[in-house]
Amino acid sequence: METAFKERTPIEATHYTRLEAQPVTGTFGAWVSKVQLADAIDDDELFEEIYAAWLKYQVLFFRNQELTPDQQLKLGERFGEIQKLGYVGSLEGHEGVWVQEYPDMYEGPVADINWHSDSSFRTPTRGSLLYALDVPVGAGATVWADQCAAYADLTPAWREFLDGLSCIHDNITLNPYRVLDQIGGKAMGDMRKFLPPTEHPLVCTHPESQRRFLFVSELMTREVVGMERLESRAVLDFLFAHQTRPEYQARLHWEPKTLALWDNYSTLHRGIFDFGQQHRLMHRVSFNTPWVSQA
Ligand code: SIN
Repeated sequence: METAFKERTPIEATHYTRLEAQPVTGTFGAWVSKVQLADAIDDDELFEEIYAAWLKYQVLFFRNQELTPDQQLKLGERFGEIQKLGYVGSLEGHEGVWVQEYPDMYEGPVADINWHSDSSFRTPTRGSLLYALDVPVGAGATVWADQCAAYADLTPAWREFLDGLSCIHDNITLNPYRVLDQIGGKAMGDMRKFLPPTEHPLVCTHPESQRRFLFVSELMTREVVGMERLESRAVLDFLFAHQTRPEYQARLHWEPKTLALWDNYSTLHRGIFDFGQQHRLMHRVSFNTPWVSQA
């Protein structure tokens, strides 16, 4: 492991024609400046540069963005098909603009309190645009973890072992008893018919960058297919610890009008819920493209 870190060439800044991207870690993530995202709705050249930066850095952060809910939806439509149904409701009159508002969301049946890739328990979301409207000062950050780097840093013996394996993703992996207590057996049974557990390769090839990435997460991945329980536990516990090492993390401290755009295939994320009962309001637009679960 130490050798892998020492040999890394840190990702560099990129001066695009229409924007600047400055890396936020050694492997992924960038602050993007000199751009208003709303301008990319009708500007192909600008959109293509943002798209290229998104593929390269996997997670992009933008400050001081003026973006209405309509514009956020239109921008999302440029990336893929808007995901209408989410784990929270949409803004009235703007289906697909999900309202993530705390402290209200603490009461919901699904509290995203651990690392995950959105919707990996069904068709994984391709990416998301999360826009901060009101955020606690200094708290309530979001952290992403680079799953390309996490895979690349494994020894050849581990990579060979993992390639070809697959896992079951299940949206109640981490909190079945809480969901059962909150919504009851009948609703839980109905939910599982609607959202049955799904199998995905443990290591996937990114459909655009062709990079290999780990596709497991502590919140959603229940077991490795074909393994005994203890074997599966041991493999997953190692991967959960490895894939979220600080070396693979990028943390965003929000301010109002900050936007994060992330690649939901090759990164994990989690909110940091250290802000108690303070108000935290985000608008989120998620989009899909056909999932190629290519091992
Ligand atoms: C999420 O887990 O999808 C949202 C992250 C956040 O609210 O910081």
